[in-house]
Amino acid sequence: SKKTVKLADGAELPLIGLGTWESSKGEVEAAVSAALNAGYRHFDCAPVYRNEHEVGRALAHGGVPRSELWITSKLWNDRRRPADVREALEQTLASLQTDYLDLYLIHWPVVWARNTVMKPDSLASLAECWRTLEALVDEGKVRHIGVSNFGEVELAALLSTARIKPAVNQIELHPRLPQTALVEYCQRNGIVVTAYSPLGRGTLKGANMLSSPTVQELAARHAVSPAAVLLRWNLQRGVVVIPKSTNPGRLAANLEEPWRFALSADEPLALDGVPHILLADAKACLRCMRRLQEIISKAALA
Ligand code: A2P
Repeated sequence: SKKTVKLADGAELPLIGLGTWESSKGEVEAAVSAALNAGYRHFDCAPVYRNEHEVGRALAHGGVPRSELWITSKLWNDRRRPADVREALEQTLASLQTDYLDLYLIHWPVVWARNTVMKPDSLASLAECWRTLEALVDEGKVRHIGVSNFGEVELAALLSTARIKPAVNQIELHPRLPQTALVEYCQRNGIVVTAYSPLGRGTLKGANMLSSPTVQELAARHAVSPAAVLLRWNLQRGVVVIPKSTNPGRLAANLEEPWRFALSADEPLALDGVPHILLADAKACLRCMRRLQEIISKAALA
């Protein structure tokens, strides 16, 4: 739980965090409490997951001082104008019951008009949004800023204008979607990479890596769970992982087991050999957007 990676400014980000995407209402508060007891100090949140206030309740009552927690949240796609960025952050801070975030990410490299899904806002831009985030760092409301779902092209554009470089790029990463070139690009540029859906749930439903014979064989060889093999695979390349679980036993195992063993030099290659799902980036994004749109319209009806 104390294993960390250093960000460009020397701050230490715990290498294993708890993901909260699709942790359902009524479940996530108990999961976060269990995670605090198990030793988690890094929590990955987003307002679009519609459960930040529950996460906040658990963190506020968990008995762990704020200074020992690492809380990440994300700015949704229809909040790109300066006033909207500030309002979104205030909402997230209120939900999470804190007065600062450790890390605030631009959720996707898109610019939507307020309260729309996928309608471009021609009067806003990622560059301007970033300048607002930089101001929020200056004001102490967020300690670090970063991005999510950015590819090399979007990162290069941001790096060319940023006064404060993005500390983190959070992307979907697992042996079926290794994105090796992008990971290396980030690491070369001093950007720490975080893997979401490290167990393969993500936008690629049905990746079924936990039941892959290759993964199971490695798990048996090292006497750990298949999940630990998948987490270790990313950790060994310096990538932070945020596996989601609402099950107390599984979330505790996810924090401990990856440190009990190491994959040897040829084993990561063996895992890489699991057939990749063929997928264009744009398609993955679109699929995810559709899913989020369902979540949003359900929330609007509720
Ligand atoms: P659950 O919350 O019931 O534990 P990802 O991190 O790739 O998004 O995957 C999370 C999914 O994997 C969730 O459905 C979660 O379900 C499940 N999961 C989390 N940890 C483990 C584990 N150690 N073994 C098996 N399944 C797990």
